[in-house]
Amino acid sequence: MADEQLFLRSKVIVEPLVDRFFAWPHTIAPVQAAMNLARLQVPLLESYLQSPQVHVAASNNPELRGGYFINIPESRADEVRDLLDTIRRDRADMLRFADAIAAGQEILRASATGFDLTPLYPKLPAELGGLVELAYDTDNQAQLRFMEPLVYKSDVYAEARQSVQLSFETGIERPFILSTPRLPSPDVLELGIPFRHPGLEELFKARVRPATLRHLREALELDDAQAVQLSAMLSDRPSLAPDRHIEGGGRIRYFGHACLVLQTPEAAIVTDPFISADSTAGDRYTLDDLPDYIDLVLITHGHQDHIVLETLLQLRGRVGAVVVPRSSRGNLCDPSMGLMLSHQGFPVIEVDDFDEIPFPGGKVTATPFLGEHCDLDIRAKSTYWAELAGKNVFIGADSSGIDPTLYRYIKGHLGTADYAFLGMECDGAPLTWLYQALLTIPIPKKMSDSRKLSGSNAEQAAAIMTELGAKEGYIYAMGEEAWLGHVMATTYNEDTYQIKQINEFLAWCSERDIKAGHLFKQQEWRW
Ligand SMILES: [Fe+2]
Ligand SMILES: [Fe+2]
Repeated sequence: MADEQLFLRSKVIVEPLVDRFFAWPHTIAPVQAAMNLARLQVPLLESYLQSPQVHVAASNNPELRGGYFINIPESRADEVRDLLDTIRRDRADMLRFADAIAAGQEILRASATGFDLTPLYPKLPAELGGLVELAYDTDNQAQLRFMEPLVYKSDVYAEARQSVQLSFETGIERPFILSTPRLPSPDVLELGIPFRHPGLEELFKARVRPATLRHLREALELDDAQAVQLSAMLSDRPSLAPDRHIEGGGRIRYFGHACLVLQTPEAAIVTDPFISADSTAGDRYTLDDLPDYIDLVLITHGHQDHIVLETLLQLRGRVGAVVVPRSSRGNLCDPSMGLMLSHQGFPVIEVDDFDEIPFPGGKVTATPFLGEHCDLDIRAKSTYWAELAGKNVFIGADSSGIDPTLYRYIKGHLGTADYAFLGMECDGAPLTWLYQALLTIPIPKKMSDSRKLSGSNAEQAAAIMTELGAKEGYIYAMGEEAWLGHVMATTYNEDTYQIKQINEFLAWCSERDIKAGHLFKQQEWRW
């Protein structure tokens, strides 16, 4: 078998981990990861160890879905204690860096009063030396600006934190990614390698092009027992869908959540890839339905349901470039997705509003993304306008219609949209749910609740359609598909505000003879 040409089985999934917690920008990008580790993950592990049974009970309470509770049985509490001890010992540099950030912010609050900032540099904690610049905005509000590329080169960025778990998609919902660390398990192949490891690329390329067990074993540096586990993940037959490419015209397929695959015979574009590996479920497109080569992956923003490493790692080696919006460079709340992904081995193109990226037979233009980030100064967010096979497609992600006039500018620059894909998570989580670890002064609950991660409501979505002159409008990115549960933790029903707003939007479209829909599981458009 060692020299037989084999394919990766379709149901193989990868969970990329950082100190056993699921990888996403706030656990990978070093400044934010330090804050997340010190101010969220360590306190969470401590809380669990004080009363594991409370965490397990809360994890199983549907009303607390998506809360910060560790779903690990009390019988394994010792392993959680070992994890916490290891973090305290091996990540001491990061924990000190997080404390230094909080201390630095405090120095600015106390002493940056509009006068010369030079005398404050010697007062900053030594850990920040060389890695920050102090700067006022034009209202004399001072902040730390991180030299983010340098932080990646410092001890704060520890690739040794990274590992991956390979296993089979079972169809059973995995624990919520932001709260529950992954422990070892006999049915999981655990590899202590960084995400950029070339062996992972070799492994996932074997979905399309076969490889030998011997080759993959060497590429992934496996021992005998690991090689046996890997061999169960390989098959002598490919599982690719015969209709994954098209012969003429254009096609869009909805793969669930914010993931669209736009195709012509010459090119393929994938937005916010987050794709099921459950190839026997029969109600969705899966990794088997992707074209062999993807010219561009478009990432709209840094939320954990849009930049999904568990899918992105499966695509590396088959992608021309991952297009990401440029960050503000150095803001604590705005990590660079370009730096984060290029350090994981991805070819990256960073874009600003109205930058254009050509691809064979078409063009993508980055367009502005408004709101949905709790009014934090986050610039790493973009919508996109794709032109292919004679159609204009607006990919709106979670961008909101706070100020619909913006979309008039988009239309003025690019024309009318044949298809508009809009997110309507219009009652999102409050500020502290996602950003708590980055806030260095406490925020009152009332203030946090007033600043939600919300996309458009019915009125705003309708205004976007009007301003864009869009011919068809589809609501997506709602996280309703069951296979997204470990990331989305959503609980909608017919009475939920968001669903009522979607229905109101659909009624508005229907009154105007605008073709519209609320996407769920899968859909295809062909022309
Ligand atoms: Fe979002
Ligand atoms: Fe989202």
